[in-house]
Amino acid sequence: MSGSKKEYKRVTVKSLIEMKSLGEKISMLTAYDYTMAKIVDGAGIDVILVGDSASNVMAGHETTLPITLDQMIYHASSVVRAIDRALVVVDLPFGTYQSDSKEALRSAIRIMKESGGHAVKLEGGKEIKDSIKKILNAGIPVMGHLGLTPQSIYKFGTYTVRAKEDEEAQQLIEDAKLLERLGCFALVLEKIPAALAQQVAESISIPVIGIGAGGGVDGQVLVLHDMLGMTQEFHPRFLRRYLSLHEEMTTAISEYVSDVKSSEFPNENEQY
Ligand code: KIV
Repeated sequence: MSGSKKEYKRVTVKSLIEMKSLGEKISMLTAYDYTMAKIVDGAGIDVILVGDSASNVMAGHETTLPITLDQMIYHASSVVRAIDRALVVVDLPFGTYQSDSKEALRSAIRIMKESGGHAVKLEGGKEIKDSIKKILNAGIPVMGHLGLTPQSIYKFGTYTVRAKEDEEAQQLIEDAKLLERLGCFALVLEKIPAALAQQVAESISIPVIGIGAGGGVDGQVLVLHDMLGMTQEFHPRFLRRYLSLHEEMTTAISEYVSDVKSSEFPNENEQY
């Protein structure tokens, strides 16, 4: 890629496609609330994903399945109020698009109207083709998601690497090409072998954003609370922690508790 990076005042779905063609990697992180989204956007992220991982990170559920459309809209509208530059993509939660394409469209319309998000993300390939078509026909940009799709955790049984076997890898390649043909503007590939992810990225023209899919794709996404080291229980190989906020926050809060208990806080400059 050339040294000079094009400046985007506002990132759109078109900007992402252009970034791929210019060889500029796309940065994406999750956010679920106003304060964090403001920091993430201000730091120059290209895409904020209001992921249904909010179900785990914000609500403490074991899986992404329980989060509702109303809850996703609440998180997404908080994020949208914070951003000046990033593209905001919102996950359609489990159960809001799988049963039929009309329901899928209604769910996507609610997200767009009530949260102000810019695009939706759906998990799956050919089995949700009609839903994707219907949403795209209404002018709503769609990001696909293949590989490990956490909404199907009870089908997979574990969160281990997907598409290691040839049959599943071939199906994934076909699904990626189908999503491109349908008109999706980008695709997330989660936890698949790096060589397969690179092959997919090289065989389609839309950007492929990886999580646990190696460096041969067009961009990367991580869950914000994981990369900041706020969560502790999760240690996949692909996760790089940029801070140890769990420790730092615990130290700060313990200090506060101790200062309150000892009447060291507030001091005379911290009162009226
Ligand atoms: O919900 C989410 O955070 C996601 C990412 C892991 C891609 O879908």
